[in-house]
Amino acid sequence: MRTQVVIIGSGPSGLLLGQLLSRAGIDNVILDRVSKEYILNRVRAGVLEEGTVYLLEKVGAGQRLHREGLPHDGFTLAFNGRGHRIDMLNLSGGKRVMVYGQTEVTRDLMDAREATGTITRYEADKVTPREFSGETPYVTYEKDGVTHRIDCDFIAGCDGYHGVSRKSVPRDAIKEFERVYPFGWLGILADVPPVSHELIYANHPRGFALCSMRSERRSRYYVQCPVDDKVEDWSDDRFWDEIRRRLPAEQAEALVTGQSFEKSLAPLRSFVSEPMRFGRLFLAGDAAHIVPPTGAKGLNLAASDVHYLSEALIEYYNEKSQAGLDNYSQKALARVWKAVRFSWWMTTMMHRFPDTGEFGQRIQEAELDYLIHSPAASAALAENYVGLPF
Ligand code: APR
Ligand code: PHB
Repeated sequence: MRTQVVIIGSGPSGLLLGQLLSRAGIDNVILDRVSKEYILNRVRAGVLEEGTVYLLEKVGAGQRLHREGLPHDGFTLAFNGRGHRIDMLNLSGGKRVMVYGQTEVTRDLMDAREATGTITRYEADKVTPREFSGETPYVTYEKDGVTHRIDCDFIAGCDGYHGVSRKSVPRDAIKEFERVYPFGWLGILADVPPVSHELIYANHPRGFALCSMRSERRSRYYVQCPVDDKVEDWSDDRFWDEIRRRLPAEQAEALVTGQSFEKSLAPLRSFVSEPMRFGRLFLAGDAAHIVPPTGAKGLNLAASDVHYLSEALIEYYNEKSQAGLDNYSQKALARVWKAVRFSWWMTTMMHRFPDTGEFGQRIQEAELDYLIHSPAASAALAENYVGLPF
């Protein structure tokens, strides 16, 4: 079999790239290790920048998002027992974000792809990118015990942090940067109305807490916890007690609790690998970088990567020019590092660190106090939160 671009990974990066290429007439095949159902059961973050919304609209995956998504004009930073609203819309010169779960984004992209009849192979084993340093790359995989080969012009590694693409690159051709944070986030989903119609990011001596949502009836809440905690140790009652203690009194009293139907613990890390191109193999999304969820940049970075990559591939096929491909890594990484910086900064300002003590807490409170009172600092926060342009 032959196609123009083999995309490894059917997460948001791979699916969005596939749609951007298909609508430009570029043939592509997506391969994923797991099943469609498995992918649709992964719970991830849910804040979309305007640039991400625009790309989803462009590829025909924006209708439900506009029907069911919740546009947000601001969010609250809580510390020292009080909440302070960041007026994102006015501080950013008119930009807002859309709260819409990543699982739903993935479902809409899958539906849009299926409507065009483009090939996706789920449950493909031993997917391996090959010969990408030369002119004739190909990908092999196994399905039902049979080995398949797809010849192509390019390979897009959209297979997430644990994927095979980055690992296929010779060690001496890649440089990795990493910071692992000494805590995790315990997250729950529950069908209770959100405590506030905007997100609340809370700094508290007991640790960080976040109140988010999926709809007007479904809440997504998180508390910072030790990374080696077990989900089983966190009963619903313990979770609700803990988050209540970390919120300002007004919200703590208003919190509606109920049975959770999803509970998981995620470690936090910042990670970047450079470059994002190796001959005819291009990395995009979590395959190339990870950010902690504070600031909700993961999915939005995946969107800007595949935007740059699709433009470069379209330029190659339409104008026979390599310039965009040659520039891809540098262009994507410039935006990646700014989001890595922002999410590292927000994480550092909002969480309890085991080794910084009361000094660290005072520094955080001073920074937060400065942030809410200085129009310049508030504007910088809003500008990054709504997403830097791409
Ligand atoms: N072979 C084939 N597919 C693979 C392999 C492999 N060896 N390894 C991983 N995959 C698939 C996974 O099953 C998954 O469906 O690649 C896909 C990667 O998807 P994501 O992990 O969602 O990564 P990405 O599409 O880059 O999405 C980025 O997701 O994790 C969030 O914070 C992140 O929001 C960001 C977004
Ligand atoms: C979420 O809704 O899951 C969410 C929202 C904002 C974040 C992280 C996660 O910063």
